[in-house]
Amino acid sequence: MIGGLKPLYLKKLKLINYRNYESINIDFTSQINILRGPNAQGKTNLIESIYYLAIGKAYRSARENQITRWNNNYFGITGEIINKFGKSVLKIAYNNSDDFNKEIKINGIKTKKMADLLGNLTAVLFAPEDLNIIKGSPLERRKLLDNDISQVSPDYYVKLQRYNKILIQRNHLLKKISFCAKGYKELEVWNIQFLNICEDIIIKRLQVLEKLNPLTRLMHRKLTNGKENLEFKYLFNKNEQIKKEQSITKLLNEELKKVKEDEICRGITLMGPHRDDLIFTVNNNNLKLYGSQGQHRSAVLSIKLAELEFFKAESGEYPILLLDDVFSELDKERREKLISIIHNKYIQCFITTTEDCFSLWDDQKDISNFYVEKGTLKCN
Ligand SMILES: Nc1ncnc2c1ncn2[C@@H]1O[C@H](COP(=O)(O)OP(=O)(O)O)[C@@H](O)[C@H]1O
Ligand SMILES: [Mg+2]
Repeated sequence: MIGGLKPLYLKKLKLINYRNYESINIDFTSQINILRGPNAQGKTNLIESIYYLAIGKAYRSARENQITRWNNNYFGITGEIINKFGKSVLKIAYNNSDDFNKEIKINGIKTKKMADLLGNLTAVLFAPEDLNIIKGSPLERRKLLDNDISQVSPDYYVKLQRYNKILIQRNHLLKKISFCAKGYKELEVWNIQFLNICEDIIIKRLQVLEKLNPLTRLMHRKLTNGKENLEFKYLFNKNEQIKKEQSITKLLNEELKKVKEDEICRGITLMGPHRDDLIFTVNNNNLKLYGSQGQHRSAVLSIKLAELEFFKAESGEYPILLLDDVFSELDKERREKLISIIHNKYIQCFITTTEDCFSLWDDQKDISNFYVEKGTLKCN
């Protein structure tokens, strides 16, 4: 701990009917929490529940009824967190009856807006599937960026929700036009809203990338002893790299004109932030096309470390770090680098592992060890 101060941290967690946890109530240390246990016992589920508390949804795209413990119709997650403002209690409850659904309470006060939850407990998650960020689908990369931005700018989350609604309406209208050639005027009206929100989202993403990029570059240089220069760029509508000085309004208008006929023909929106992507380069070579698996791994680790710094810069506090099974995926050198970084910073960390990794730390006084078995947690 630095200077006796405590970082942002999750002090207590209570789960009810969350996946294979019937009812648990745990206290965590503000430093390193190791969750050890054999496979299929609930380690990932626990990490998932903590991340749920941070972003208000499950990262594995699971629906609430999948998360609810089998043969039950509700679940609850309650977390006591300590951040720079002091103590707060975040509570999310779900009930599958129509008139209840999802309820969020912050310090006992009900809120209807998910945006109110965001930013209370910021978290960076690093799970084995993240190792596919570079190779995987554009959706994965957009999710990474959108989740990060939403946590520090809840307004952005609200915009994304609005965008998705507009997209549904616009697609509906395009289908109608393609089917019965009616609704052209209505489309013009929708386009104004659509273009405005596209612009807002893209501008925000570009602003964040401008902050994330130097942090990622720095982390990656450290990780590769200065050998590799990692960069990422925003890919607009699959083929155009937006330059900062370009007018985004103009670009969006031009692009919409280009796809207009195709959109009507196919009855679907063919441009916008939901189709954008990121490209990663190492020493100017496209990492997806030319990088080795080892380079992908290092790049993802650098991105995760940069995310930590990004949250710190935006909110003044390091987020909590959730490492699900990644130790076994990283080689000794990368693992040691990661440990030294966690150790030197002001970060609460949750690490799942099947093997004993206690010995990896020189200084063990700030470590809490838990044994996870069949949806129970024992502190040892
Ligand atoms: N909704 C659910 N209700 C009860 N058990 C569940 C639910 N969803 C998953 N499980 C159980 O959780 C276990 C997997 O937990 P997980 O956290 O992924 O394991 P691990 O410890 O390997 O990370 C499996 O045994 C699975 O059957
Ligand atoms: Mg797991």
